[in-house]
Amino acid sequence: MLKPLRLFLTPFAVLLGLLLTGTPAMAQDAERGAVLADTCLGCHGIKGYRNAYPNYRVPKLGGQNEDYLVLALQGYQGDARDHPTMNAQGASLTAQDIKDLSAYFAGQGEARTGELVAGGRAAKGKEKVAVCSACHGEAGISPAPNWPNLAGQHKDYLMHSIKQYQDGGRKDPVMMGQVINLTDQDIKDIAAFYAEQAGLFTVAYSN
Ligand code: HEC
Ligand code: HEC
Repeated sequence: MLKPLRLFLTPFAVLLGLLLTGTPAMAQDAERGAVLADTCLGCHGIKGYRNAYPNYRVPKLGGQNEDYLVLALQGYQGDARDHPTMNAQGASLTAQDIKDLSAYFAGQGEARTGELVAGGRAAKGKEKVAVCSACHGEAGISPAPNWPNLAGQHKDYLMHSIKQYQDGGRKDPVMMGQVINLTDQDIKDIAAFYAEQAGLFTVAYSN
């Protein structure tokens, strides 16, 4: 009884196996990402390049976690992240484009590392980030690939993004809860702390 059933099922199993392995769920292609990244680098590849209204520097993508980049880009495609330029940039990207672009940016190098900076401009934020460390790491390098590194990010961008989680411009249930009680002064101190750490960098625009 068992044997004929197995004989009968085997071709299906083989076919299923082919279907599963024959269409390897879109591997990411960093080289293709590099070509696509040309438009992105017009903003993200220029050190200190600014967003106009409100005025803050565009985020550094070098050293950022690949899985997080994918999530962020998906956020601009939907209504989780509100930013006219990035919404427009994201709208035309396919799922494959997002994977390839993220692989390209993440492939530009690991986040830089250094001693924890706790003095100077980082001093006031040092105590205030204790609660954030569980997910963003003691010095802003996150332990999970889908959580963003904050170390070395521009201070004004960090302030802007934290405020967006407060006012609903960014809808992330985890982060909205984390920042709800922060005052403007807290946000400033926390952003200064992370900005002072070694970590993210601007990917060079080479064309
Ligand atoms: C006109 C300038 C401009 C262009 C072109 C542009 N971006 Fe952006 N990008 C920004 C700004 C400004 C932000 C911050 C938006 C916000 O406040 O949420 C941003 C945010 C991002 C983020 C989120 C970073 C983070 O830390 O959460 C990613 C990822 C990103 N851009 C990738 C891209 C990619 C990929 C492209 C090309 C397809 C691109 N950007 C093109 C200006 C630009
Ligand atoms: C439970 C985990 C967790 C904790 C705790 C946490 N975060 Fe986050 N954080 C996240 C996740 C997940 C995201 C990505 C959300 C998204 O997709 O927009 C994020 C995103 C951010 C961003 C945006 C980064 C970027 O590149 O745009 C900032 C800034 C930030 N967190 C700051 C903080 C601060 C400040 C605290 C402490 C007050 C904190 N986080 C606590 C998980 C956490």
